[in-house]
Amino acid sequence: MSRQFEKVMKCYEYYQSVTAFKPRVGLILGSGLGNYARNMQVECEIPYGDIPGFPVSTVEGHDGRFLLGYIGTVPVVVMKGRVHYYEGYSIEDVVLPVRLMKLMGIEVLFLTNASGGINRSFHVGDFMMITDQISNFVPSPLIGENVAELGTRFPDMTHIYDVELMEVIRTTAEEEKIQIQEGVYVQSSGPNFESPAEIRMFAAIGADAVGMSTACEAITARHAGVRVCGISCISNMACGITGEELSHLDVQAVADKRSEEFERLVTKVIEKI
Ligand code: HPA
Repeated sequence: MSRQFEKVMKCYEYYQSVTAFKPRVGLILGSGLGNYARNMQVECEIPYGDIPGFPVSTVEGHDGRFLLGYIGTVPVVVMKGRVHYYEGYSIEDVVLPVRLMKLMGIEVLFLTNASGGINRSFHVGDFMMITDQISNFVPSPLIGENVAELGTRFPDMTHIYDVELMEVIRTTAEEEKIQIQEGVYVQSSGPNFESPAEIRMFAAIGADAVGMSTACEAITARHAGVRVCGISCISNMACGITGEELSHLDVQAVADKRSEEFERLVTKVIEKI
């Protein structure tokens, strides 16, 4: 058994000692979207700090716990808060929660985040369905001994974001009269926001939005055969686009302001999965 799989198994053994709940969908909440609990029937909560070896976030406003329960009739595991690569964990540890959720039983992973808009047709507060990603600016979470128990050494990444799930998001947004953009997400390491020159580079290579999470989680899920979808809330225009300086507080405030509509969209999509 690979060392990393052993570590995930220890977390899973703890999980099994707490609950027999088997979620079908995993949902990771981005900054400012942490009040999602009001949309679900919570059966059980597990603080990350209680799980042996589990990475714990150090960022203010990133509360850390699993919420297990139902959205409509769908059994879900919601991650209220995630850890980021910039917190100093190895990239393998950053994605450990995704592997743990796979062991819990998820078939679909719904990724959400706040991100900086690179595409100049976007506006602050827009939602963007992620159609593809660029992850090469952080190490691959699959570097190291392959976790063969979960997936193959060289997994295909042609359709990281599931084509059918994207269609569900499109039709749901239309039904709910929620405008949604589409585009490519690039993961930057953070914790500093990018420079204007870096944003020009990201625009030139085809990115529409930039954030500090998500892409590594999507790769890990695909490696393990989990279907993936994702939505970004454009919390600011990326550095250099408007000339305004960026702050984490502004990012959270915008995500917060848009959270009601965001939560409605996420809920309606999950009810259809
Ligand atoms: N850059 C990187 N990450 C982010 C941004 C940004 O502009 N906004 C929210 N998360």
